[in-house]
Amino acid sequence: MKHFNRYLVTAALPYANGPVHIGHLAGCYLPADIYVRYLRAKKTDVKFVCGTDEHGVPITIKAMQENVNPQDIVDKYHAVIKESFDAMGISFDIFSRTSNQVHHQTAADFFSKMYNDGLFEEKESEQYFDEIKQVFLADRYIIGTCPNCGNDKAYGDQCERCGTSLSPDELINPRSALSDAVPVKRKTKHWYMPLQNYEPWLKEYIIEGHKEWKNNVYGQCKSWLDSGLQSRAMTRDSNWGIKVPLKDAEGKVLYVWFDAPIGYISATKELTDQWADYWCKEDTRLIHFIGKDNIVFHCIIFPAMLRAHGGFVVPDNVPANEFLNIEGEKVSTSRNWAVWVHDYIRDFPDQQDILRYVLCTTAPETKDNDFTWKDFQDRNNNELVANFGNFVNRTMVLMHKLCGGKVPAMHASVKDAADDAIYAMLQEAKVKISDSIENFRFRDALNEVMNVAREGNRYLQEKQPWILAKTPELQAANQEKIDNCLHVCLQLTANLAIFINPFLPFTSQKICHMLKVVDRILEWENAGSMKLVSVGYSLRAPELLFKKVEDDQVKAQVDKLHAGLKQSAAAQAQPAPVAAPVPEKKPEIQYDDFAKLELKVGTIIAAEKVAKADKLLKLTIDLGTEQRTVVSGIAMHYTPEAIVGKQVTLVANLAPRKMKGIESQGMILMAEDKDGRLVFVNPADAVAPGSGVS
Ligand code: 2FM
Ligand code: ZN
Repeated sequence: MKHFNRYLVTAALPYANGPVHIGHLAGCYLPADIYVRYLRAKKTDVKFVCGTDEHGVPITIKAMQENVNPQDIVDKYHAVIKESFDAMGISFDIFSRTSNQVHHQTAADFFSKMYNDGLFEEKESEQYFDEIKQVFLADRYIIGTCPNCGNDKAYGDQCERCGTSLSPDELINPRSALSDAVPVKRKTKHWYMPLQNYEPWLKEYIIEGHKEWKNNVYGQCKSWLDSGLQSRAMTRDSNWGIKVPLKDAEGKVLYVWFDAPIGYISATKELTDQWADYWCKEDTRLIHFIGKDNIVFHCIIFPAMLRAHGGFVVPDNVPANEFLNIEGEKVSTSRNWAVWVHDYIRDFPDQQDILRYVLCTTAPETKDNDFTWKDFQDRNNNELVANFGNFVNRTMVLMHKLCGGKVPAMHASVKDAADDAIYAMLQEAKVKISDSIENFRFRDALNEVMNVAREGNRYLQEKQPWILAKTPELQAANQEKIDNCLHVCLQLTANLAIFINPFLPFTSQKICHMLKVVDRILEWENAGSMKLVSVGYSLRAPELLFKKVEDDQVKAQVDKLHAGLKQSAAAQAQPAPVAAPVPEKKPEIQYDDFAKLELKVGTIIAAEKVAKADKLLKLTIDLGTEQRTVVSGIAMHYTPEAIVGKQVTLVANLAPRKMKGIESQGMILMAEDKDGRLVFVNPADAVAPGSGVS
């Protein structure tokens, strides 16, 4: 087997078009995190990179639904997603974004190199075009009647009611989702990658070279390669994305699946100046953790791109998981059938490890699997509380009670076979856990850790130190045996901290705190040792590692799922925005009162945050003949980058006012909906800056 000197582990870049749910965690982020935490514990040179995927149709669709700019969407969800991952202990070395400058440059350079090497085919094809909006329409932007089930809101790529994959040509009465116009076919030019040219290499690389890949991954690759590859367009018509770096490419951007995986390279560049060691040296092991819907992109298209470009290592493994269903049904974000990570964190504060445990033990490693709240409760109460937590708690309580709160000695005179058996069991467990993790069988590995705790309980039950100490006289007579038992249990507890660390890092930290040991003890080479806590060392008071999940908590979560589903069905049946509450009526005014206002349309040409003021942005507004500085309380709603270029309506004759030391020369008008969202009031079509409003 090849020897690797460093690892680069990636987890799929989530689209920044919504929060993450537990299916995402179970699919790739949790397994990737377990793997990386294990590698770190083995003192392996590893970098763990991820970030948000901020281009492509998923983003522009969401922006259209929310009636805001794509930039607003990605800014908002990048922050939401990052917070969820941080809270769950997903320990990326970097969580970047594909809207970063480094990434734009890296992806554009990658394309240019392939272009200059003559590796693209330039082809014209007919695509649907919206004549009103003057844009080409991605398949998702075409809506019509499904030929299969008659749903009149089917998309050009799929009918969400019956699940059929469609092409826009199959839709009956196709319409543009942007303008409702009937789309027309128009010629457009794109750059295609002839994937068929890489077929022999791909077969050698995967079919011959990576027979060890998981069955679901290997099988999908084989079936793609068996049915023959074709040229695939690597560019799209859009104004959102990375501009195609060629002269005659106005309105063209890189295909999101071309740019996104390059995001792994850009994120590594941002992380370390040594990025090229991780991407270009043959002794790097590149591993992509993904969900099953991403297999073709990571196993076929991206490796072909890396090969075509040259100079990069290719993935050595792509451990993709299947999907996690919820309460027996497929996750659907559009129907709001999902358990959102940010909701979980709010409802179960400081209990991240229960979710990590349940998601790992039910991970869809080889087939789709089901998450239910009842199972969540059972696994927590019967396994974490009753087995693992119970062993550690009993050990700590008994040690305080029977050994004066200090690590007791091991007395050779009364050492017996059961004590030796624990040592042997730990050696065996260490090998099994390592082997399972290294082969991406995280469920088996965690199961093995739980077996160690089970063995601990069995040992304690067999030794029964509480019986040996039933009376002070008995205790005095048996103290050496009691000491041995608790010495073994404490060493076992320390071993559990090491074993559980990749899976439940918060729990591991709690054990370290009770045992008063530093993080260094968690290094994998220490596992199996019976000398982790020193004799005579006084330990902290026991602290419960897990608490029971009650029936009412389970019921509340199930109710919440169903309520979310109902709400989303109601919202879809009546898509009109909910009207803002009627504001308190103001007294009637005369025309002259209104005429006193000088309202003008201006264009924001610069915007920046105001120091020490969370809510304020300083705007420079072009009124054609002059520029105004305006301080506006919209910083919680818009980032400065997102609003440059927007037209606004300005109350131009409002007396100047100083805010945070800056003179504000006017006020911009904003509409506020019932959720407190602020939206610019501006003309429906662009007008010249300085135009009056009356
Ligand atoms: O399926 C998805 O959510 C994609 N955004 C994954 C991209 S992974 C990588 F290529 F960036
Ligand atoms: Zn249908």
